[in-house]
Amino acid sequence: MEIAQAFETSFGTKPEVIAQAPGRVNLIGEHIDYSQGLVLPFAIDAVTKSAIRKRDDDQIRIVSAQRPEEMIHSSILELQQKGGTGWSRYVLGVIWALEIKKGLDLYVDGRVPLGAGLSSSAALECSVATGLNHLFQLGKSSTELAQLTQRAENQYVVVPCGIMDQSVSLMAKNGYALLLDCRDLSTQHVPVDFAEAGLRLLIVDTRAHHALIDGGYAERRASCESAAAKLGVASMRELEMQQLERDHDKLTSVEFQRARHAVSEIARVLKAVERLRAKQFLEFGELLNQSHISLRDDYTVSCPELDLVVDTANANGALGARMVGGGFGGSAIALIKDEDAGKISLAIEKAFADAGYQAPRFFDSLPSDGAKVIS
Ligand code: GLA
Repeated sequence: MEIAQAFETSFGTKPEVIAQAPGRVNLIGEHIDYSQGLVLPFAIDAVTKSAIRKRDDDQIRIVSAQRPEEMIHSSILELQQKGGTGWSRYVLGVIWALEIKKGLDLYVDGRVPLGAGLSSSAALECSVATGLNHLFQLGKSSTELAQLTQRAENQYVVVPCGIMDQSVSLMAKNGYALLLDCRDLSTQHVPVDFAEAGLRLLIVDTRAHHALIDGGYAERRASCESAAAKLGVASMRELEMQQLERDHDKLTSVEFQRARHAVSEIARVLKAVERLRAKQFLEFGELLNQSHISLRDDYTVSCPELDLVVDTANANGALGARMVGGGFGGSAIALIKDEDAGKISLAIEKAFADAGYQAPRFFDSLPSDGAKVIS
């Protein structure tokens, strides 16, 4: 059912605005957005749509296409208690962060695969934020919306994420990756010409979810902050590899490893941008591999399923592969030749079956547009 119709079925009136926002994959620059680093994600073609209408009272009602039998009830007043459960907190958190003072009916339809590490939550937040920005003529820039949706996730949902996922969901451009400088939030669009070189980015959802997802992320963030404090720098962004090596013994071995990942990953992002611009895809693929090794060995956020995707893709002709997103499960990407797609997917399926893992899911997506109002 079309979302406008679904809205009408749930609420008995028509929506005033419909907005959409995409999920993302990150080409490179992992676990460094919260260290003021550089990241290079792109938006995938799967989106979440939100249809919204103002109400005359202060009630909030939310229905999701994925759970049409349930209607979430809240109110503008209740937002101050930061209530709600599960997915509805992402919607309520955005209404709270944007300081909306009027009741709302919302119908959301999330088509970004859930739990795959492809930022379905940022897509939901950004589609609601884009719709509300339009509906209330708030005049917020996409950078401001990224900050506000991150605030919703940090303070309302209480997930300590960085600003990468929301930024790319809001600012991405068809055909380009977004080079985001997380220190000053400046951006550049970097062309991604895989298709014309006969290449594609295979996205493999391992369907693994290891228990470390929440605590592990916060612990990594805290290690970077304590390493920065001990070395007298504002963030990992200000740290040079030479200083890190010289001051090795001021840090615990874990802090040293975390910092080494962050510093080396920032350097890899800069090189990756050069390689992409020069269409040197073999060298670009090698940087993906180095990123994975660093995430696996220094940042220790990979897991056996992600490593198996990367190793199997590489053993079957990929130009490079790595885990993406927070880690401990979720998805990996592999840059592959078009003609190898069948062979590599089969090899990964077989490796998973042999290891007794759940069958993985495969996606591929060209870099797509960021959030927009569609009606
Ligand atoms: C999650 C967070 C992002 C980022 C990545 C790791 O997706 O939401 O802010 O930190 O992990 O790069």
